Amino acid sequence: MTTEHLTEKKTVHIKSYGCQMNAYDATRMADVLAPHGYETVDSPDRADLVILNTCHIREKASEKVYSELGRLRVARDERRAEGRNDLTIAVAGCVAQAEGPEMLRRAPAIDMVLGPQTYHRLPEMLARRASGERVVDTDFPADTKFEHLPKARTRGPAAFLTVQEGCDKFCSFCVVPYTRGSEYSRPVADILAEARGLLAEGVVELSLLGQNVNAFHGEGPDGRSWSLGRLIAELAGLEGVRRLRYTTSHPLEVDDELIAAHRDIPALMPYLHLPVQSGSDRILAAMNRRHTADHFRRVVARLRDAQPALALSSDFIVGFPGETDADFAATMALVEETGFVEAYSFKYSPRPGTPAATSDAQVEETVKAERLAALQALLDRQRRAFNQASVGSVQPVLFDRAGRHDGQLVGRSPYLQPVHVRADGIAIGDIAPVAIVAAHANSLEGRLAEAREAA
Ligand code: SAH
Ligand code: SF4
Ligand code: F3S
Repeated sequence: MTTEHLTEKKTVHIKSYGCQMNAYDATRMADVLAPHGYETVDSPDRADLVILNTCHIREKASEKVYSELGRLRVARDERRAEGRNDLTIAVAGCVAQAEGPEMLRRAPAIDMVLGPQTYHRLPEMLARRASGERVVDTDFPADTKFEHLPKARTRGPAAFLTVQEGCDKFCSFCVVPYTRGSEYSRPVADILAEARGLLAEGVVELSLLGQNVNAFHGEGPDGRSWSLGRLIAELAGLEGVRRLRYTTSHPLEVDDELIAAHRDIPALMPYLHLPVQSGSDRILAAMNRRHTADHFRRVVARLRDAQPALALSSDFIVGFPGETDADFAATMALVEETGFVEAYSFKYSPRPGTPAATSDAQVEETVKAERLAALQALLDRQRRAFNQASVGSVQPVLFDRAGRHDGQLVGRSPYLQPVHVRADGIAIGDIAPVAIVAAHANSLEGRLAEAREAA
């Protein structure tokens, strides 16, 4: 199908609602559209194409798209009435994948529905749309989108790199195995090529992404399956790599090679997002997490042995069907004992098609709200204490953006804390040692420390 008529100048606005992989997909959609004349803009107001890159994980996230669609339809009607540029409305991401053609019926304003595995075909879809078709393309194609995506463009010194996608774990609350498909690891050679391309353009920090990133088992150049630990070791040897991260991990997949990577590879940041969801074995079993709270404790102990500076982040669900006060107390106890520097916690949200949604032991909304407030208060205390404890220390900071005040830069500590600094003589992309002078709830303030050479 010809896509030549698409080369005139146009604008696209992509709005993402979901996880980091959803955000990564947005950048890659922009990469796909750029050679077809689409410039990315920050607002939908004048855009020729708006892509809502949706998230299906909880009900609230997935309902947002319908209110946004209402607004876009009004905007389009106004434009048409005033004879201004038309607006093409596309829905991408995990709601699109889950609901597919249903969405066209529910929201007549939609022109195109595409899934997380088909966006490399956006130019063809736009051509079909231009000839009057309402397009739905939510297959899981046999060949992967990665084989068709253009070279990743850089957007700063820190970049995401998807190494693994999909999930076969089927936790009983979760839609991801249905919206993203089964586990797929990219071949190591492809990952190295994408990494080299990013590094050549000045990227110094790579965050490896996957729904279950430590289940990575991509084919290595030696024809064998490589673990994430092995991949990290290889990436650490590339010219220009200063920092490596990976997310999101599963406690069942933390193997010896990954633990060794935390011990041996200085570029691997001492920060790990390791979702545990609950501290109750009964609930973990009902969630089909396939590990106990003690397994999580042992994994954390081994990681901390290997890297004493390790800080942990996690995800929690409260009010899972059947969760009693005692189960919730077990979660609070695990948090108290482990200590997290960051966390995402949610009220259980029943999702269509998942086993837990049909349980008749649903927890009342008021109980969920109380538990969430108690858990968040505890997690908040832990985060503040961690930020406070960094006052007086010197941290290597990677500067990645301008601050709000003149002459100020903002960067990230090894623990992803935003650090605001008056930046004389440093530039975006530098890593410099910073003495932390003050801590706020969500960020730090610092001064450049004496030694200016790379920390
Ligand atoms: N792959 C990751 C996270 C996937 S989704 C993992 O295995 O942990 C991100 C987080 O959303 C989950 O960790 C979980 O805490 C939360 N989540 C997923 N489904 C949910 C649901 N139905 N209700 C509430 N929170 C949910
Ligand atoms: Fe969802 Fe569980 Fe897979 Fe994570 S491991 S994506 S929570 S099914
Ligand atoms: Fe949401 Fe899909 Fe990510 S459901 S959390 S955007 S994988």
